[in-house]
Amino acid sequence: MNIILIGYMGSGKSTIGKKLSQILDFEYVDLDNYIEEKEKNTISGIFKTKGEIYFRKIEKKYLEEVLILPNSVISLGGGTPCYGDNMKLITEAEDSKSVYLKASIPQLVMRLKDEKNKRPLISHLKSEEQLVEFIGKHLFERSVFYNQSNVTLSVDNKSVNSIVEEVILQLF
Ligand code: S3P
Repeated sequence: MNIILIGYMGSGKSTIGKKLSQILDFEYVDLDNYIEEKEKNTISGIFKTKGEIYFRKIEKKYLEEVLILPNSVISLGGGTPCYGDNMKLITEAEDSKSVYLKASIPQLVMRLKDEKNKRPLISHLKSEEQLVEFIGKHLFERSVFYNQSNVTLSVDNKSVNSIVEEVILQLF
């Protein structure tokens, strides 16, 4: 079985995914890292040199590859479910469950404000006010995709261990 973690940038997909995979003794796959290894470039580097359209194209190709790996916890990029028919691929993937790690706007702003340089989509935003406005709109647009996940879990003010426990309780 595969567990697919979905959520906005900064929602904790990688941290939760790693811990969950250790507890379940599953493989851990981070789609962003997978892309970076295959393309021999960082995500920011790919955005800079080849642009977002190229990134979305290869993101889909690599998504298809990771969805067929056995017994894995897979963390997707924040935008992965929101392009083309990616969410359909995710929901129809064999023996898989998707989990939306749902964080509120204030929580996301808090987690992302010092990490802008790693995230090409928000690196141009100058003030915290701009970040709040951007995330608010972006999350609203993306929620229609995220909400198609099998399970939705609120992650605000919860410890990694309690989120991992909740995921396990919901899925098994
Ligand atoms: C993106 C999120 C990033 C990465 C890329 C685009 C997005 O992943 O895939 O920068 O569109 O939200 P994380 O959610 O792991 O930061």
